[in-house]
Amino acid sequence: MRVLGISGSLRRASHNTRLLRAAALELPPGTELVLFEQLAAVEPYCEDHDGDRTPAGAAALRAAIAPADAVLIATPEYNSSLPGQLKNALDWASRPYGDSVLRAKPVAVVGASTGIFGAVWAQAEVRKVLNAIGARALDDEVPVGQADDAFAADGSLADPRLRELLADAIATLIDAARPAEAVEAA
Ligand code: FNR
Repeated sequence: MRVLGISGSLRRASHNTRLLRAAALELPPGTELVLFEQLAAVEPYCEDHDGDRTPAGAAALRAAIAPADAVLIATPEYNSSLPGQLKNALDWASRPYGDSVLRAKPVAVVGASTGIFGAVWAQAEVRKVLNAIGARALDDEVPVGQADDAFAADGSLADPRLRELLADAIATLIDAARPAEAVEAA
């Protein structure tokens, strides 16, 4: 099973990208997390350039999401909301209307910020957008605050309570992505 990880930060030393790597440590056997590393190349959304003329960066985003069994988004918080480039990417992924690559796709949202609240408003905004798109946004919230000090040397989350929250969110995401017959057999 493949989970696509999207960090909403373009920063080289991003805490949110680190959070995705910490999430990879919590994956059960037989699952893998692949990072989408071309967020910066996704063009500004323009309806004129959609349809048959979808530009390369946006097409690459859709091509990465489409085969993934699930998506994990780690969002920074900018001015109490999600970063513009992440919203822009979600807008591209939301089209074509009614046939989006995110439609019914299980998606979990986590977030890290250097403030004390751990990007909770940004996470809520991302879930709101995902719900509008018709994705299967999970309710889980993983608020990693004071992110400069949140990670242990091995890349995992230092706070055991947060680490458990992250592991629970990953487990819920994997369950949501399992085909119904596998869930019944379990
Ligand atoms: C921030 N930051 C921030 N943090 C927060 O908790 N609430 C907020 O509203 C904001 N607003 C905000 C706006 C802008 C423009 C920037 C650049 C930053 C701080 C933010 O949490 C911090 O820079 C994180 O480290 C960003 O995530 P990455 O890049 O480390 O993943």
